[in-house]
Amino acid sequence: MSDKLPSSASVAHADADAGPKLFAPAAARNVADITALLQTHAPKSGRAMEVASGTGQHVVSFAGAMPRLHWQPTDIDPARRASIDAHAAEAGLPNVARAITLDATAADWGERHAGQDLIVLINLLHLISAPAALCAINEMAVALSPGGKLVCYGPFKRNGQLTSAGDARFDAELRTADPEIGYKDSLDMRGWLGNAGLTIIAEVDMPANNLAFIAGKPA
Ligand SMILES: C[S@@+](CC[C@H](N)C(=O)[O-])C[C@H]1O[C@@H](n2cnc3c(N)ncnc32)[C@H](O)[C@@H]1O
Repeated sequence: MSDKLPSSASVAHADADAGPKLFAPAAARNVADITALLQTHAPKSGRAMEVASGTGQHVVSFAGAMPRLHWQPTDIDPARRASIDAHAAEAGLPNVARAITLDATAADWGERHAGQDLIVLINLLHLISAPAALCAINEMAVALSPGGKLVCYGPFKRNGQLTSAGDARFDAELRTADPEIGYKDSLDMRGWLGNAGLTIIAEVDMPANNLAFIAGKPA
């Protein structure tokens, strides 16, 4: 991920006396809706991996709401992994593992983490290049078990269009910081998911003009 991103791309802050715990206002806003989405589409039990977990606010909610899934949070950033572990320790949930390091864009991780019944990726694809996004999708597809589900949530272009003034502004900010990154297009997503061997189950409009792709690996 570019180190020159606009600050709006990845806002997470530490509160005084919160220790390693970080808080992202965006995660606090979208956590209930994404949890409800997963409760509709996720398998009831098995292994769930969150890629690029961020602060840990999401995985704690997911694990609390879906207690028969065993959750593996991941992130590339050690400060985020420490935050994830602190949120998980505070929540005291038995079904959240310690966060592990994972570069979603590395070309080799899918086989190492094979056997996932669910993989969740929230708000990363617009922050990386198209080849890196394609690599992440391919590796997630490899890591899924037959019958497993992939959920990719974030801001996307719809059929080539930026669909709000706020999205146009954010995408322009991202591309100014790094011309390689920015919003991915729903048309590309459909092609990338299909070429990775996944079947699109649903595209769900989410609040704040976000979109969630739900895709499945054939059983
Ligand atoms: C915008 S934040 C989203 C975090 C969280 N999913 C959320 O929505 O609150 C992007 C996250 O991706 C992580 N990240 C960036 N590049 C990554 C990569 N190549 N592989 C895995 N994680 C990455 C960052 O450390 C950060 O936690």
